[in-house]
Amino acid sequence: MIAAVSSNGTRVGITGIGAYVPDRVLTNADLEEMVATSDEWIVERTGIRERRIAEPSEAASDLALPAARDALEQAQIRGEDLDYIVVATATPDMLFPATSCVVADALGAERAAAYDLLAGCSGFLYALAQAYGAVSSGLAERTLVVGSEVLSKITNWKERGTCILFGDGAGAAVVERVDEGGFEGFELGADGSRGPDLCVPAGGSRLPSTTENLEREAQFIHMNGREVFRFATRVMVSSAQELLDASGLTLDDVDLYVPHQANQRIIDHAAKEIGLARDKIVLNIDRYGNTSSASIPLALVEAERDGRLADGDTVLMSAVGAGLTWGSALLTWSNGGSRSR
Ligand SMILES: CC(C)(COP(=O)(O)OP(=O)(O)OC[C@H]1O[C@@H](n2cnc3c(N)ncnc32)[C@H](O)[C@@H]1OP(=O)(O)O)[C@@H](O)C(=O)NCCC(=O)NCCS
Repeated sequence: MIAAVSSNGTRVGITGIGAYVPDRVLTNADLEEMVATSDEWIVERTGIRERRIAEPSEAASDLALPAARDALEQAQIRGEDLDYIVVATATPDMLFPATSCVVADALGAERAAAYDLLAGCSGFLYALAQAYGAVSSGLAERTLVVGSEVLSKITNWKERGTCILFGDGAGAAVVERVDEGGFEGFELGADGSRGPDLCVPAGGSRLPSTTENLEREAQFIHMNGREVFRFATRVMVSSAQELLDASGLTLDDVDLYVPHQANQRIIDHAAKEIGLARDKIVLNIDRYGNTSSASIPLALVEAERDGRLADGDTVLMSAVGAGLTWGSALLTWSNGGSRSR
């Protein structure tokens, strides 16, 4: 699915962003004590030096809430103003009710429709596209999109091929009408035949959480790292290129590239193939690892805090994740006061 969206007249953009990570830091040196690995191996193969880990008592909504509150504050709206909340997560508080309902209740968003979205690490971009659709069609006015993950709870801490990669965190964005800028287009896709390459087999209706399935450790992330790597390097490039073409934009128009932080080698490869200069890339994988649907909003918040995002800047975001899914979004940054109210 590919669409250049700015042509329909209604401009929809991000008017507030926020992020949250747990305090606890797990370094590569800590991992050396847990599995047969080394800081050198992890840094060289992934670029990751440390990641944040939630407390045993913390669930996805606990991380989502501070991120959401910051986004609402920046957008200068209250929870009760929201009419649509979507939380992208692969690690919901529980199967149901949806984590978004927990978030809506805590924010006092009594008028909002609330549901979760499962598209792996592409979830935040899928959710932005849905919020865009809801606002531009008139279905909703003030929407909140959250990516929140507690991947540490579905990580097998005895499996060195996966446990080095993931971390916990949350990011949020308020999406509504804006006077200028806003989303220029989306490109989203999925190849379900690749599902087994990155999955959590148990906990659903195929393999319920029985003692037998837990003993087989089927409740943890299972990944064919090499296949996911190959797939990711291909689609991170093709998705971004197709979206730029459809939007009539060129590389020169892109001011900032905010990729999903899965692996520094995947990001470097994609940026090189697309032709993006290194100083346009937002990178924080060294400090957070792969936080799945939280990774793009976490990076956006850091970029803004560091003064790398100004009104009028064109931002290219791309992700790949379980599904296997992928997505890209193009956005003209406009949250410095151009909201349409
Ligand atoms: C996981 C990943 C870092 C592994 O790197 P790789 O270069 O593909 O490594 P391989 O899986 O080929 O393994 C190479 C060797 O390193 C070993 N190895 C794997 N994990 C290791 C670790 N943490 N420390 C040390 N050695 C490790 C393997 O056992 C293998 O040893 P062998 O050759 O003796 O069998 C890489 O495949 C990757 O990042 N894939 C994409 C994952 C991803 O992004 N998933 C989320 C997508 S949203």
